Amino acid sequence: FGKGLLKGKKIIVSAGGTQEAIDPVRYISNRSSGRMGYAIARAAAMEDADVTLVSCTTALPVPSGVKIEYVRDARELCRAMNSHFDDCDAAIMAAAVSDYRPKVQATQKIKKESHDVLNIELTQNPDILYGLGQKKKGQFLVGFAAETNDVIEHGKEKLKRKNLDMLVANDVAMPGAGFNVPTNIASLLYKDGTMEQYPKMTKDELGHIIVEKISEGLKQQ
Ligand code: PMT
Repeated sequence: FGKGLLKGKKIIVSAGGTQEAIDPVRYISNRSSGRMGYAIARAAAMEDADVTLVSCTTALPVPSGVKIEYVRDARELCRAMNSHFDDCDAAIMAAAVSDYRPKVQATQKIKKESHDVLNIELTQNPDILYGLGQKKKGQFLVGFAAETNDVIEHGKEKLKRKNLDMLVANDVAMPGAGFNVPTNIASLLYKDGTMEQYPKMTKDELGHIIVEKISEGLKQQ
């Protein structure tokens, strides 16, 4: 690494799991630790990119040389990604975005004395990556697919529907892959229909491979 592959390039990366507030003290979230997105941001900075990491709440230290912007929920993440997108060269959505949020967020802590059964109505969040795919102008757009079955098939469908240049498909049901572990098992799918499958490796190693592919993709844009 450290060959200056992304010198002069602006890269935005999202990481971690969104937290969708139920009331001031509770939220709906997922098991994302942020490690995968942080590893990509770190790898891109090591290749001299100008990196902005849009991070959901995580316990991770900020990678050196990376600008950080913290967000909580999907709508904040959406605003942040859109505000940086127009003048970036590549965008990578590694964040695990909640597809739904509570329709109403209680302004005061919900008391258990007032409900035997508590129903929380959910409404859909925006699909951030889909939105970026609609407005992209020459940017290299990378998405992830977190799947538990038919990984490649679902990945191909997401790549096409969201108008991506590359998609990282991970089978999050496999041991050593996906959420909250230091390793991952990924297949990289490209818009020309080609695909590469990788064995289990650390998220740092995979981050470097993803960055290398982005640099190659940007040369062809
Ligand atoms: O953070 P770690 O613990 O290291 O775990 C890594 C990871 C498993 C979170 C990561 O490798 C991963 O797969 N991230 C994407 C998780 C996800 O939300 O997958 P999805 O298949 O539901 O979404 C597909 C793509 O659309 C993703 O790029 C996602 O960021 C994006 N999306 C999804 C929903 C939504 N409302 N807006 C989006 O932009």
